[in-house]
Amino acid sequence: AKAQGASGSAFDFAEVMAGVDADHHVAEGYDADILLRWGDKVFADAPEFDPTAQTEAAQERQFGYNNDFVGFIPLDGADDHGLLVVNHEYTNEHLMFPGIVTMQNGEMVVADATAERVGIEMAAHGGTVIEIRKMDGKWQPVLDGAMNRRITAKTEMQLTGPAAGHDRMKTSADATGTKVLGTINNCAGGVTPWGTYIMAEENIHGYFTGELPADHPEVANYERMGIPGGTYQWGFFDKRFNVADEPNEPNRFGWIVEVDVMDPNSTPKKRTALGRFKHEGASSAVAKDGRVVFYLGDDERFDYVYKFVTAGTYNADDRAANMDLLDEGTLYVARFDEDGSVAWLPMVHGEGPLTAENGFESQADVLIETRRAADLLEATPMDRPEDIDPNPETGRAYVMLTNNTKREEANAANPRVENAFGHIIEIQEDGGDLAATSGTWEILVKCGDPSIAEVGATFSTETTENGWFGMPDNCAIDADGRLWVSTDGNSAGETGRTDGLWAVDTEGDARGTSRLFYRVPVGGEMCGPCPTPDLTTFFVAVQHPGDGGEDWEGHGRASYYEDLSTRWPDFRDDMPVRPAVVAITRQGGGRIG
Ligand code: FEO
Ligand code: CA
Ligand code: CA
Ligand code: CA
Repeated sequence: AKAQGASGSAFDFAEVMAGVDADHHVAEGYDADILLRWGDKVFADAPEFDPTAQTEAAQERQFGYNNDFVGFIPLDGADDHGLLVVNHEYTNEHLMFPGIVTMQNGEMVVADATAERVGIEMAAHGGTVIEIRKMDGKWQPVLDGAMNRRITAKTEMQLTGPAAGHDRMKTSADATGTKVLGTINNCAGGVTPWGTYIMAEENIHGYFTGELPADHPEVANYERMGIPGGTYQWGFFDKRFNVADEPNEPNRFGWIVEVDVMDPNSTPKKRTALGRFKHEGASSAVAKDGRVVFYLGDDERFDYVYKFVTAGTYNADDRAANMDLLDEGTLYVARFDEDGSVAWLPMVHGEGPLTAENGFESQADVLIETRRAADLLEATPMDRPEDIDPNPETGRAYVMLTNNTKREEANAANPRVENAFGHIIEIQEDGGDLAATSGTWEILVKCGDPSIAEVGATFSTETTENGWFGMPDNCAIDADGRLWVSTDGNSAGETGRTDGLWAVDTEGDARGTSRLFYRVPVGGEMCGPCPTPDLTTFFVAVQHPGDGGEDWEGHGRASYYEDLSTRWPDFRDDMPVRPAVVAITRQGGGRIG
């Protein structure tokens, strides 16, 4: 039975005060302990972190930057021993490297990249697999863990599924169109029912520079994806990130990556059957008939909600039998109708508009240009679909829609123009079957400050001034079916509060009540909420703490909080601020929330 707090809430913790300062804060009665920071050893023989003399070789053996998705894969069914899998989404050079920031006319200027810096940046991307164990109530990394692994922007990966080997996937380094180096901008992700680690490639456009010839066949494809975005200068040092030199390389990114964590030498697989777009994450659950359903958001204003249903069924008794389930199945895109129904539109070559006349010669073309295929299917353009988590018990799925300040026309599923704070949609799949091709939906909550009428927020009246949030980003459904939401963007605005982790009631009278459980230091973003199956630990990821403040040598930056910066979590003059994974436990032990 679920513990019931006041007003029928499924939560009974005393919430944290919303606010903003240099430290993190968790609800009273809980401990929030730093588990892994940028630069921490992932292997026993890794070098000690020296922020003034960082190297690519050291970074390849150390925990990467900007931890985002966090997953826990129990070993031997244990709740106190397992593998932690963590995405390293991107790098913040101005917070990482000493001596590269100067102030010019009051503006912070970051020095041009060097080959050494780009090498470190590439090694700080990707993911970490690390064994962890709870000893005397506290989690610790096991540095000699046999499965420990760093995955980077250079790790060899294999393209699999319908688009693998297609001509559009071939480059000068890879005539087979099946072998890719690395994964980038891994935002959220997932752990499959068979215990593999899923990394979602999101904002891949920023890593490419250069210019395609105007008549190149990929021009429209790349425009739809914002390629080349030119955020990073990698293309100046590694020509595969320059589209003039390697025009097909961007087609090899924007996929869902699956990692067999039990073999540290396994080749990660880019599973093309799940489509190519700005993949936010891929949470999954087993449907009633044993097929496995992956919910997929494409995080861009006016992009879409997808799901993938495997053709084969999950075999709980034979892990190996599941290892290629992600290569065959049906990708669907969602149309949210005004009457409260949702239709899942199959994205199958030859069906509807997905034909040669429209430039799709095969399923490979449909998958490489998933967004254009979804446009033609007239899916519903959403307010930045982020993480989506299914609840297999109820057949519901929760869709985080961060915001969309560019929306000029509202519709039922995106009801606010200039949607600054986002909303959460609850999908009820027909028959409670996650694999269903139709369902209904309603808005669980429109986010923002309920005390400001124009915002139009719809949190329950039980929600306190600490309990409301904007910009829902990641989410988790815990083992009791309770919804936890982490946010991205409260720290950067004028909300007077940082991002954090909120507990949101979905059932009964308490539905729509939200409470603040944990908040991040100034400038940070909250990622990766990951409860252990026994609910005694919640792993969370604090991403880019201190961003928007001054760098670690005291250079100022146009800041949302001019006089506030942080050196979390070390608070040492000789240490930069560091993204970190935090383990939250209840003092004296017991269930969280
Ligand atoms: Fe990496 Fe959609 O956030
Ligand atoms: Ca996100
Ligand atoms: Ca999630
Ligand atoms: Ca995020």
